Amino acid sequence: MTTQKLVKIIIDGVEYEVPAGANLVDMAKFYADNDIPVFCYHPKLDPVGMCRMCVVELGDVERDRETKQIITEADGSPKVRWMPKLQTACTQTVRDGMVVRTNTQKVDEARESVIEFLLTSHPLDCPICDKGGECPLQNLTMAHGKGTSRMDFSDKNKMDKHIPLGELIYLDQERCIQCARCIRFQDELVGDDVLAFHERGRQLRIITKSEPGFDTYFSGNTTDICPVGALTTADFRFGARPWELTEVPSIDPHDAGGTNISLSTRLDRDFGGRAIIKRVMPRQNEYVNEIWISDRARFVHHFTRSANRLTRVMVRSGAKASASTWEEALPQVANVLRAAHGSVAALAGGAVSNEDLWELKQLLAGLDSQRLGAWPPTHDGALLAEVGVGQGTNLGTLGKGSAVLVIASDLEEQVPIWRLRLKAAQDRGAMLVVAHERHTRLADFAAQTERRFKPVYGADLRYAPGQAAEFMHNLRQHAPEVAKQLAEAENLIIVAGADGLSLEGHQALMRAAANFLIETGHVGKPNNGLLAPLPGPNGFGLQAMGFTPSNTLDIMASPPKVLIVAQCQPLDDDPTAHEWLSQVETVIYLGLFADRTAQRARYVLPIQSFAERDGTFTSGERRVQRFYTAQGPMGEALPLWKAANLLRVQLGQAKAKLSAAALMLEISKNHPMFAGMSYKELGKVERQFPDVGGSDQYYGGTAYQNKGGLGLQIPTSADQGQTPTVGEVVLPAAHSLRAGELLIVPSDSLYNRSAIMQPSELLAQRVPAPHVLLNPQDAADLGLAEGQSANVSFPGGSVTALIVIDPSVGRGVAVLPRHLSAAPTPMLPVVGALAKAAELLTV
Ligand code: SF4
Ligand code: SF4
Ligand code: FES
Repeated sequence: MTTQKLVKIIIDGVEYEVPAGANLVDMAKFYADNDIPVFCYHPKLDPVGMCRMCVVELGDVERDRETKQIITEADGSPKVRWMPKLQTACTQTVRDGMVVRTNTQKVDEARESVIEFLLTSHPLDCPICDKGGECPLQNLTMAHGKGTSRMDFSDKNKMDKHIPLGELIYLDQERCIQCARCIRFQDELVGDDVLAFHERGRQLRIITKSEPGFDTYFSGNTTDICPVGALTTADFRFGARPWELTEVPSIDPHDAGGTNISLSTRLDRDFGGRAIIKRVMPRQNEYVNEIWISDRARFVHHFTRSANRLTRVMVRSGAKASASTWEEALPQVANVLRAAHGSVAALAGGAVSNEDLWELKQLLAGLDSQRLGAWPPTHDGALLAEVGVGQGTNLGTLGKGSAVLVIASDLEEQVPIWRLRLKAAQDRGAMLVVAHERHTRLADFAAQTERRFKPVYGADLRYAPGQAAEFMHNLRQHAPEVAKQLAEAENLIIVAGADGLSLEGHQALMRAAANFLIETGHVGKPNNGLLAPLPGPNGFGLQAMGFTPSNTLDIMASPPKVLIVAQCQPLDDDPTAHEWLSQVETVIYLGLFADRTAQRARYVLPIQSFAERDGTFTSGERRVQRFYTAQGPMGEALPLWKAANLLRVQLGQAKAKLSAAALMLEISKNHPMFAGMSYKELGKVERQFPDVGGSDQYYGGTAYQNKGGLGLQIPTSADQGQTPTVGEVVLPAAHSLRAGELLIVPSDSLYNRSAIMQPSELLAQRVPAPHVLLNPQDAADLGLAEGQSANVSFPGGSVTALIVIDPSVGRGVAVLPRHLSAAPTPMLPVVGALAKAAELLTV
């Protein structure tokens, strides 16, 4: 909470000092431990005063008009001017001298009536209702209900049950108590106004207004804050009872947001009696995700136990792959590594943990190699260590006086939790500027949008995949008013993505953004600095451990004899990978799936996913956060750090390491960025506001309290008072497109057909068909219309995709979302071509 003026209020005869202007329900809970019952109120939403469950007696202490002294009763207590009727506490802000009574007979009777009224038409579903055991209505009925009912069961209002609001969420109309929390969350907080009330009186019910139904990336949150079992997820319905579940703290393994999640697990017959993830829930971290998670974080967990997971060590000899064991394979792998005489490199994906990266780096160092590449080589996070957002940054506190520039990034599709929080920042009075070559969802919420740069420009269609960097570099000329407002803002954050940019282009953009922040005094303090949507949950960890995208391009340009591929899929991601990978003699694959790269590898070593082991990820905000072992093991898979360590033992480089915790201790002692970051420190928690996740789920919903740690943020050099080194802004050279050529620009789609998403079948219908965005003029020139199938060709391959006409896309550009087709598509902008497809696309 921000520090502000304090006022004195009296609750049930006891005086408390609380921040002026705060909400009474929140204050009673936080300072007086007094849980005023609520249904429609939620601490993250504006109060509406609809249900009247929170009624209290309210008054003000009386003061002498002249002297302003408090007038006292005969017994010395302050004289109170009571309001004649009960008041809803949720619509009150605290003021000096406010007096509240929450436990009188009048209050009790009013609450009893509210419960009785709600139950007049409630089904008797508790034994089979998913909310049973964590249901606010159930709990408040026990606490405040009458115990008997005057209801005539035959009068009960019968409504529809199990109505799908889209594929992910079901509505049970009978259970709805019409609190409008779901509608308000979608409308106020998310800005996807897809739910509404329909009809009136007893027929009033929730409907979805969107096509497809409940069309948003945040729908699951409504099931957490719905105070009854009216909204349930298709993923968890009838899956388990809340009291059977064990909560394990974890981190969303998909993006740079670092969303804190709780994995609800249960020993399960269907999983051989091992612990299985039954559902993914939010875990409160007010610095990171508050109590919200995206639907990707919630529903994409099935990959962890997919039938396609690698569970055995495989060794390939010629065309034949045979099952092996760690004991057999490790000495062979060690020999291959030794025989390479230093011609060894490693590529690691963004979901490889800090501990894994550390041990992998040591393995290569012991083989005289520093060739450590980050996959995919699209974003360069180096400057985040210099001028990344200051320690203590909290996007949830940005408001008046703050500005945020999001450039060349489509956060809705890349880091949805940042998109949610930045939209809220704009609502609180911050100035959000979205600069992108084409329209993105976040632009709908921005105060300003800038689309003055396009990767292809000029009458003769030149391209330079660094136009966003050029725009940022010369912002004062291109957009003087925006530049002035950003420069003069009290706080400024720049989110610099890589959309439409080559790696060189992204490096230039990061430098240009860093320069602007430094020149305008917006570094080295909270709520100021640079962010980048680095791919994966540990993109900054890769950077910090020396796995860089520049090294990757170098590895691709001059491949080593032996390549270790750690939890990434070059052959599925990069259409040209078969060319450069064919020059590698031996591929050693440490991964989750039998993907194309695994099929090319001589040694396939199965590793554990984030769900089966302990570790840490470093978010885009440089917050190092722990995740814990939740699910039972899969076959012979090992944690990646363990596999790397066993190889080091084979090679005589090191002794056996015992745990991820021990490794982190080693990292904290040897890597300055991680100084002091033992598991103990990372696991520390503090009391957060609002105080959700306790036994009173009616207040905040079913988000969990943080028991796994809030994590620690790596300080930047600017935080430490050092002068950041930025480097020169080098813009990529321009080239001309020839007739018939287009610049194929990759983009991201939150839902896609990547190996990690496919096992979450529930989302399959939400994954868009492979498509390509084209400017109407280019489409007309090519004789292509919306919805037609086109063949998109590029170096190393081609795919069939549906044409989508988008006037915001620049001339000469074809935007091709990645991972929608089975075949790999470009990771970076490349020159290609489009032609009408002979065959229609079938997905
Ligand atoms: Fe019972 Fe709550 Fe479900 Fe209603 S919503 S049936 S009270 S568990
Ligand atoms: Fe409230 Fe749930 Fe009904 Fe929505 S569905 S209005 S959250 S009770
Ligand atoms: Fe206050 Fe509903 S009226 S919680």
